Amino acid sequence: MSQYRIAAIPGDGIGKEVIAAGIEVLDALAARNGGFSFEFESFDWGSDYYKKHGVMMPSDGLEKLKPFDAIYFGAVGAPDVPDHVTLWGLRLAICQPFDQYANVRPTRILPGIQSPLRDVGAKDLDWVIVRENSEGEYSGVGGRVHKGLPIEVAQDVSIMTRPGVERIIRFAFKLAQSRPRKLLTVVTKSNAQRHAMVMWDEIAEEIAAEFPDVTWDKMLVDAMTMRMTMKPGTLDTIVATNLHADILSDLAAALAGSLGIAPTANLNPEGTYPSMFEPIHGSAFDITGKGIANPVGTFWTGAMMLDHLGEREAAAQLMRAVEMVTADPALHTPDLGGTSTTRRVTDAVIAAVQGRNT
Ligand SMILES: NC(=O)c1ccc[n+]([C@@H]2O[C@H](COP(=O)([O-])OP(=O)(O)OC[C@H]3O[C@@H](n4cnc5c(N)ncnc54)[C@H](O)[C@@H]3O)[C@@H](O)[C@H]2O)c1
Repeated sequence: MSQYRIAAIPGDGIGKEVIAAGIEVLDALAARNGGFSFEFESFDWGSDYYKKHGVMMPSDGLEKLKPFDAIYFGAVGAPDVPDHVTLWGLRLAICQPFDQYANVRPTRILPGIQSPLRDVGAKDLDWVIVRENSEGEYSGVGGRVHKGLPIEVAQDVSIMTRPGVERIIRFAFKLAQSRPRKLLTVVTKSNAQRHAMVMWDEIAEEIAAEFPDVTWDKMLVDAMTMRMTMKPGTLDTIVATNLHADILSDLAAALAGSLGIAPTANLNPEGTYPSMFEPIHGSAFDITGKGIANPVGTFWTGAMMLDHLGEREAAAQLMRAVEMVTADPALHTPDLGGTSTTRRVTDAVIAAVQGRNT
């Protein structure tokens, strides 16, 4: 029997609520499946830790995480700590040194969930967004001079490297090739950004030659928002830069019904370092502590983690359980227009996992 060591980092706000729910569901699934088990170790890093220690995680945090098979992450962000401190101090402080360069964000309309787009159903919206997750606009290069003076200057430099672009575009082509439609859209902004984005386009052309069976096209990011809204069925796999995909994937989640159901995987595809799995959403101050956070994104994220660990059947079993629950509007949390709670949705998914859902 395989045993997987998982580092749980609930983080802040509703991150704590949804990761607790996710661990319950994953343990129930392991017990039902019988072929594997989890050993979760929880780390209390995040904004509360920062307020006590002045850092979001200890200086040996990465050393502590390295031996784990995967990381299950909630969210960071607190109203009284600046967002760039929380993000750079924890999430990016893990993603970047662990070279989790492929951020994979599937989006589809789950049973029982209504897209805000009129007449758009499950068969019209089934995408995977691949986000470059190691450089680009979030490289962290830049600085501020003359801080607070009238002559103040601030600069953020977007860095794109040829190997960085090649590996993410190749990853996206491979993923597109593995999906039935074999269809990839490369998002760009090379009309306005005439250096790095032009290189991005050129590399896409070069890599495309390695995948003759994949149909691909190129789309400016502004036009992409329109295409996602007006012609969602023309899209399948999508690859974009760190910033572009960050924005497009929130739009994708909203078009699929709610940010609360959207999952993501920060992958180090070579397996040199552990990969990290998290719901897309943040710490959601407005609903923290109310018991109404939608845990579905965290469950779906758990299914992606199982897939990554090689437990494909268990991943599919978990998604079937989640879909049985989303199909029942009585089990929708307020973000989906319902009145259910994190507890009730979690119990229902556990019951579905324990029942015969295969
Ligand atoms: N990966 C991350 O850790 C991450 C991602 C985004 C934002 N943040 C941080 O989170 C904080 C809040 O940011 P924000 O408000 O822009 O984004 P958010 O994702 O926290 O919330 C946006 C809206 O979606 C709702 N929402 C989000 N997740 C939900 C869920 N599971 N169930 C029900 N409703 C849900 C919230 O209530 C809110 O109205 C900020 O500090 C921000 O920096 C962190």
